[in-house]
Amino acid sequence: MSQLQLPKSFNLVFFGGTGDLVTRKLLPGMYQCDRNGLLVPDGRIYCLGRQDLTQEMYLAKIEEKAREFIPKADWDDRVWSAFLSRLQYVRVDAGEPAEYAVLKEVLERNPAEVNVFFLSVAPSFFTTVCDNLARQGLSRPDCRVVLEKPLGHDLASSNAITEAVGKHYRENQIYRIDHYLGKESVQNLMALRFGNALFEPLWRREWISNVQITIAEEVGIGSRGGFYEGTGALRDMVQNHLLQLLCFIAMEPPVSLDSNAIRDEKLKVLESLIPFKDEDVFKKTVRGQYRAGKLHGKPVVAYTEEAGIPPDSKTETFVAIKAEIANWRWAGVPFYLFTGKRLPTRLAEIVINFRDVPHQIFPLAPGAAGAPAKLVIRLQPDEYIRLYLYAKQPGDTMELQPVYLDLNFAGAFKNKTRRAEGYERLLMDIIRGNQSLFVRQDELEQAWRWVEPILNAWASDPAGPRLYAAGTWGPAASAELLSRDGFCWHDEE
Ligand code: BG6
Repeated sequence: MSQLQLPKSFNLVFFGGTGDLVTRKLLPGMYQCDRNGLLVPDGRIYCLGRQDLTQEMYLAKIEEKAREFIPKADWDDRVWSAFLSRLQYVRVDAGEPAEYAVLKEVLERNPAEVNVFFLSVAPSFFTTVCDNLARQGLSRPDCRVVLEKPLGHDLASSNAITEAVGKHYRENQIYRIDHYLGKESVQNLMALRFGNALFEPLWRREWISNVQITIAEEVGIGSRGGFYEGTGALRDMVQNHLLQLLCFIAMEPPVSLDSNAIRDEKLKVLESLIPFKDEDVFKKTVRGQYRAGKLHGKPVVAYTEEAGIPPDSKTETFVAIKAEIANWRWAGVPFYLFTGKRLPTRLAEIVINFRDVPHQIFPLAPGAAGAPAKLVIRLQPDEYIRLYLYAKQPGDTMELQPVYLDLNFAGAFKNKTRRAEGYERLLMDIIRGNQSLFVRQDELEQAWRWVEPILNAWASDPAGPRLYAAGTWGPAASAELLSRDGFCWHDEE
């Protein structure tokens, strides 16, 4: 995460320039970077698309989206029009090799120190785009290529992408995005662990009883049925976001902030995850699918009634897993991973549960039992770190009850530099050439290797996922995963 120097000039090329990711996230993200003075004057953005649009038509289109996705308080007409002067729409059909000549010509007219190709297109297109760029001599050492998930459907298809991209670009030119790593709290987790002497001695099996990582979503699958039906929650959320969070919690201290030093340590965690045998899969994982229910009092349809989903679908929209790490620091400490769609609330958090005192001499207030010290790292919707401890109740009593010490980022850093949204941070890192927050090929491969036995066991299980009502916390079996070990979900206390 070291701060490398910004190049004097850059060309940032978005393939899929009319698509959702570019218009909803990437361009608003770049606007925010511009607004905060992070972009060099000689930084240009090219948005490629197949549609026959004039520059004016394209700009009008993105402005409409941008106004939707940039908070009103951050909108500034002057900054927006200056931002637009960096931007050019280039009509290129990414599937047509001959059309890359247009891109080459545009880039040659505006040479820059760094050229970034952000492939915001379906992964089935990665090979085509990389081959076509190479044909035009656009796989030079000053070029970087950015890939968004899904990076494969399983280990073999992921390796095929690696091979196709690796034919033209070296690993230090490839940026695999996991947008969770752009979230401020994830970077703060590193700061908390390795910037303070307080926690590190306690950060191990002797003092931690279990770890819970939750990414809960209220949303269903919206208009992404076609994609989601063939994907499911394990591939969509666990293989990448949840395992990456697990790595940041479990990794050993890296020797420096150098990107490979960090990624070496994350890889070791992935390699230490105990692989699942078939029989473990059914004991240590729970998959679910939402049926019709209610969210905030409003009825919502079942997954199988969503557009594009077959009525007999077995795709999981919920996953709970008990993962274990076989190394000296973590042996015997369960890491419970939990994610699902159509849950009661949107919430992403990591809970580190510390062990209870060996002998409790204090009486506990009613309802306070079983709540030993814990550290809660909330990623969203709000961001904070809370340390829960027992404290004596005020007055004539020695009864203890849980209280917390709070580090609320919004409050603590009021009036300081604005916190960057995930994509802003990641886009700036790509331009700077900092790979710390990007997934290296061996991490990707190892994550697939761990996930694959679960996918295989589920595929051969005729029972399919357990149904849960939309608006509830998933199948009851997921709570049993913890209660069997004598624990419960943080939220349930
Ligand atoms: C994406 C998944 O990677 O992450 C989506 O494909 C999911 O299904 C999204 O909704 C969640 O991201 P966030 O940042 O909104 O929690």
